Parts: sequence; C-alpha cells; structure tokens
Amino acid sequence: MATVYAVGVGPGDPELLTRKAERILRSADVILAPVSNPAEASVALGTIREFIDESRQEIIVHQFPMTSDRSRLIPAWQEAAALIASHAEAGRSVAFITIGDPLFYSTFIYLLRILREQWPQLPIEIIPGISSINATAAQAALPLVEGDEKMVVIPATAGIEQIKAALETYETVVLLKVKPLYSEIIELLRATGREQRAVFVERVGSSRQKVLTDFSEIANHTPDYLSLMIIK
Ligand SMILES: C[S@@+](CC[C@H](N)C(=O)[O-])C[C@H]1O[C@@H](n2cnc3c(N)ncnc32)[C@H](O)[C@@H]1O
Repeated sequence: MATVYAVGVGPGDPELLTRKAERILRSADVILAPVSNPAEASVALGTIREFIDESRQEIIVHQFPMTSDRSRLIPAWQEAAALIASHAEAGRSVAFITIGDPLFYSTFIYLLRILREQWPQLPIEIIPGISSINATAAQAALPLVEGDEKMVVIPATAGIEQIKAALETYETVVLLKVKPLYSEIIELLRATGREQRAVFVERVGSSRQKVLTDFSEIANHTPDYLSLMIIK
C-alpha cells in the first residue's frame, strides 16, 4: 500500500513551495490535479511543472464541478477518492495537489473524509502550503493582525450581511471568493467609509498578479475567481 499525499503548492509561484512539497512531487508515481473548468489549465499543475517528469510520472487532471449543488459534487468527490485509493492500493504513491493549503477551503478536505471512512487503512500525509492570504499580506506588506487584534476569514458567498457584521467586530476581515458579490462589497465599503482600508489581490504569486490599493481602481476592476480582499 503506497502513501497518499495532499500537497499544498502555495498561491502560484513555484518558489513558494516547501522543500518537502518539492521532494514529494518529484517522487510521487501519480500526480492528481483538480480543475473546475476542463477548458482551463490547472493552476496547481502549472505551479509545479518544473518539479515533475511526465515521462516517469502519471499526471491525472480530474474535474470537480464548480457548484454548491452537493448532488453533483458528492459523485465527483467519490470518483476522485476511488481513483486515489485504487492507485495507492496498487502500490503507486499519489500526490493530490492543491493551491494554497490543502486544509484551507480545499477540495481535499472532502476527499480526506471519504478516504478515512471508506479506505481507513490508507496512509495519508498532508504537506501544508502557503495560503493565498499569507501570500497577499506579504505582497501588499500588510500586517494581518498584531497584539490582541482579531481576524476573520469569510467566503464572500456567505452573503453581504455576514460581511457587514464582521466589519463591525474584527480588526481584519479577509474575504475569499469575492467575484460573485463584488459590486455589493464595493457598495458596502463606500457606505461604511472603508474605501481606504481595502486591499484587493488577484492571482497572487503568478505572472498575472494584480495588487490594488487605490479604491477607484478596485471599484472599476472586474475580478476573476482567484481573487480576495483584505479589509483593515
Ligand atoms: C477554494 S479557495 C482555496 C484557498 C486555498 N486553499 C488557499 O490556501 O489559499 C479559493 C479562493 O481562495 C482565494 N485564492 C486562492 N488562490 C489565490 C491567488 N493565487 N490569488 C488570490 N486569491 C486566491 C480566492 O479568494 C479564491 O476564490
């Protein structure tokens, strides 16, 4: 029985991988990369290209639907877990790669539950990665929290009311998945006089990285899925 690894590959810059992640990626027999849109390249796979050898390692790109509809997600998770288990049971080590960290809003969390439940004998090792939040703070040279300050992370899909309440409670609010609620977030920042306190970052760590601190630029931007905001 070979080991299943969940490897956090960081936000998109190959230099932000840990040495452990690199070692495992070079030695794994199978690399499994998640994508949500089959027409788009896997960001995680693009990040690790220089560490893998396609003539020796099997690269599998597995599609997970971009939806909150669990009746479509559960079969995709189940299928991926079965694929991972079948390779590991046949003695081939598998590295499931994930952007940022594997236990931070990642598909791997669902796979981990299924694997533990249905294949409890499988050895699983998790290699942490630098999350998009840490990479964003570093790029913007923005301290996340200090002293006894508190920080909250909210997927913007939770809704504008939750964001509003968080802004009143925490010194630092990190908003992930901002795309679907972007115009409402912009309006909320205006209405609460927080125009000068927001940083917007898209595709941090990649060649397409955008870091915006000027509110009019933030307000006029059309974000893509890989973007977040930190509001102090
Ligand atoms: C499903 S979560 C994945 C989080 C990831 N596991 C991590 O540790 O950063 C996806 C959200 O994370 C944020 N994100 C992930 N990678 C990013 C990047 N390179 N630049 C900006 N935001 C990113 C975006 O808000 C995106 O909608």
